Amino acid sequence: MRILITGGAGFIGSAVVRLAVARGHDVVNLDTLTYAANLENVASVAGSDRYAFEHADIRDRAALDRILARHRPDAILHLAAESHVDRSIDGPDSFIQTNVIGTFTLLEAARAYWTAAGRPEGFRFHHVSTDEVFGSLGPEGRFSETTPYDPRSPYSASKAGSDHLVRAWSETYGLPVLLTNCSNNYGPFHFPEKLVPVVILRALAGQPIPVYGDGLHVRDWLYVEDHAEALLTVLTQGRPGRSYAIGGENEVANIDLVRMICAHMDRLHPEGAPHDRLIAFVPDRPGHDRRYAIDPARIRSELGWRPSVSVDEGLGRTVAWYLDNRDWWQPLLARDGVGRRLGTG
Ligand SMILES: NC(=O)c1ccc[n+]([C@@H]2O[C@H](COP(=O)([O-])OP(=O)(O)OC[C@H]3O[C@@H](n4cnc5c(N)ncnc54)[C@H](O)[C@@H]3O)[C@@H](O)[C@H]2O)c1
Repeated sequence: MRILITGGAGFIGSAVVRLAVARGHDVVNLDTLTYAANLENVASVAGSDRYAFEHADIRDRAALDRILARHRPDAILHLAAESHVDRSIDGPDSFIQTNVIGTFTLLEAARAYWTAAGRPEGFRFHHVSTDEVFGSLGPEGRFSETTPYDPRSPYSASKAGSDHLVRAWSETYGLPVLLTNCSNNYGPFHFPEKLVPVVILRALAGQPIPVYGDGLHVRDWLYVEDHAEALLTVLTQGRPGRSYAIGGENEVANIDLVRMICAHMDRLHPEGAPHDRLIAFVPDRPGHDRRYAIDPARIRSELGWRPSVSVDEGLGRTVAWYLDNRDWWQPLLARDGVGRRLGTG
């Protein structure tokens, strides 16, 4: 299959690019290279004749038309987005621009391309979204494909808007779409402003490890390579028009996640142990959702996907990766906003 992947220089997109090339797909990586992007993430496949890179913005319709005409993909796997909730609180504009206007522009380019090609049944537009569109859970219950939307941050509202557009393009124009809503990812190549790498790098530096509020916010953690596998499974086997909730069934409170990472640091980098002495509670993020959890029954029963690693095993691999790959993360610490508290409202 020839797949146009948007956002393929980011954290999850690059995992999908690497996996898709390894699986024998032809991949075109379209990315505008924001602060969150890094072409080092795809360096392992950059020399492959199955891989091409297009430097473009998903809001640029003329560029999208040119790229679609040049590469003639069988599918679009859409991951390009502004993705950091804290940044969305400080500056929601780029979130509306990329996540809403960008997705709209890409949908229109895809529709024109698909229509001109005679509306092939096998074409797919797969939109990658988040469980954050469903809002915040109490202590009980889990999100599924039928959960009503209730976004509460500029990030999740912009992703919810894009999800609605994708559904409308399916219902109104018949575009064969797929939609996935996934829980929190972690793993190698995670940009060092997100919780898991922040904890690892602060522990390594012997600096305070910030935990928002009381630390009892619960997330359902999924190893990024398991998400990439799920996305290729849905893309190749999912039923058009359908959405799939993806989660690791690994619910952990933030404070427990931080302690698990510290325990892996104690094992793999004993200098400075015990690292959990560095934990420092800081004021909470405004509108901080209390709990997310996914019921992945549909993707499990219909498509046979399930995560391959537990959160503890995945965190162990992730800590080891950051300790072995300083050359990857060191230069990113100088990028704008990294290491500073963002999104305090
Ligand atoms: N990280 C998570 O835990 C998580 C969970 C569920 C869903 N998602 C979704 O998965 C997708 C990827 O998330 P991520 O964590 O890899 O994000 P990321 O921030 O690491 O990467 C986003 C990529 O998109 C590119 N991009 C941004 N704006 C663009 C534009 N206008 N045109 C072209 N490219 C642009 C960036 O340059 C970057 O390479 C997003 O849609 C996100 O909403 C993320």
